[in-house]
Amino acid sequence: MKPENSKLVIKGGSVLSGAVRTSGAKNSVLKLMAACLLVPDEILLSNVPPLQDVCQMIEILEFLGASCDYDEQAETLKVNAKHISSTFAPYDLVSRLRASFVILGPLLARMGEAKVSLPGGCQIGSRRIDLHEKGLKEMGAKLEINHGYVEGEVSGGKLKAAKLHLDIPSNGATENLMMAAVLAEGTTVIDNAARDPEIEDLANFLIACGAKIEGAGTSSILIHGVSVNELHGTAYSTLPDRIEAGTFLIAGLATKGSVTATNISALHMNALLSKLKEMNAKIDLTPDSVQVSYQGPLKPAEISTVWYPGFPTDMQPQISALLTIVEGTSIIKESIYEDRFSHIEELVRMGADAQVSHGVAVMKGVESLSGAKVVGSDLRATAGLAIAALVANGYTEVQGLGHLDRGYSHFTAKLLSLGAQITRSEITL
Ligand code: EPU
Repeated sequence: MKPENSKLVIKGGSVLSGAVRTSGAKNSVLKLMAACLLVPDEILLSNVPPLQDVCQMIEILEFLGASCDYDEQAETLKVNAKHISSTFAPYDLVSRLRASFVILGPLLARMGEAKVSLPGGCQIGSRRIDLHEKGLKEMGAKLEINHGYVEGEVSGGKLKAAKLHLDIPSNGATENLMMAAVLAEGTTVIDNAARDPEIEDLANFLIACGAKIEGAGTSSILIHGVSVNELHGTAYSTLPDRIEAGTFLIAGLATKGSVTATNISALHMNALLSKLKEMNAKIDLTPDSVQVSYQGPLKPAEISTVWYPGFPTDMQPQISALLTIVEGTSIIKESIYEDRFSHIEELVRMGADAQVSHGVAVMKGVESLSGAKVVGSDLRATAGLAIAALVANGYTEVQGLGHLDRGYSHFTAKLLSLGAQITRSEITL
């Protein structure tokens, strides 16, 4: 059954409890896959979750000539990009997966040329690429935008190191430029780089392949260029998904339950956990698990999404869903995307008292939500609506699973294992 033709049917009211194992991070694995294009050897990635986005990225790598062998059960992926037969990534492939734009840096660095489609529109706001472009140009690439494509060429075939400064710490720009710099001549510096754990994961992976990178995870990254022959295959396990873990922890708390996310480092979830603690949730940590439990009435919150290590925008719809039922007035400011509040209107249809104006949602907690038919219009919005459904009276039907499947693997099974009443079925009129 295609995800676009499917819905979740959730009966609210069950108190979630138990443990869920955190899968590999979508926002890391897609970049590790792109980075394989730099390496003329076999890579074995593990902890690769069965996501729509992973399948789309496999299609792109194969289109470019790399071989991919994905074992969905074992969650392992072999990629061999010894031979790259094309440097052209067409619109039909790139538009399905915005993250695929990070193939531009590796292709230019390894092949000296690339023609990659611009990804196109996005539900949550404009997703600019000016910083990717500016940085690559400073490294000597000639870039032009023609007919919806970025066409790039590197004279002499080799990028040159540069001292780069990002106006904002964009994840995608940091990743594209860091990968490009791996094969550039000399030492590149990226200042005001994104500091997310997924950036560090990408750097660690590249280092395991023979790249020379220092400072990833801080706002200044140093990349000493190497030649392609110095890069080699490796086996690497993807970082666990802090956003997936956070989604299940919030779901448990919303139902007044207690959920443990295993295979996750609390260090990467500090902003979320400290906010939940401030709201009166009980937090228990081990070195590789996080438990969040309800211990009494929750307090309203003021939240502003910011760059890591601040509160992640990718957790905003989920915590919005929780705050709909927390007594008092909560305020949520979305600073990363101009339009990431589509879930609020759907929450209002379920009885939430919320208003959005100029990038700020003001939410007055209601006693209960009521089940309705709702549609998620992006990945995290759909997850947020599922959380609302878990606490709503009666049945809720959540559509938008084409988005959900991009970033959550075994979502229904994981919620079922925690005691949720949830099924996935075909949409019928
Ligand atoms: N931006 C610019 N210029 C640029 C690049 C970005 O102005 O050259 C702006 C964008 O317009 C946007 C903001 O900066 O408003 C964030 O962009 P960033 O480049 O940091 O995001 P991204 O790399 O496109 C990744 C995640 C997103 C996550 C953001 C922020 C992946 C595949 N996606 O996107 O994840 O929200 O970082 O943390 O890694 C999600 O998982 O649901 C998701 C949207």
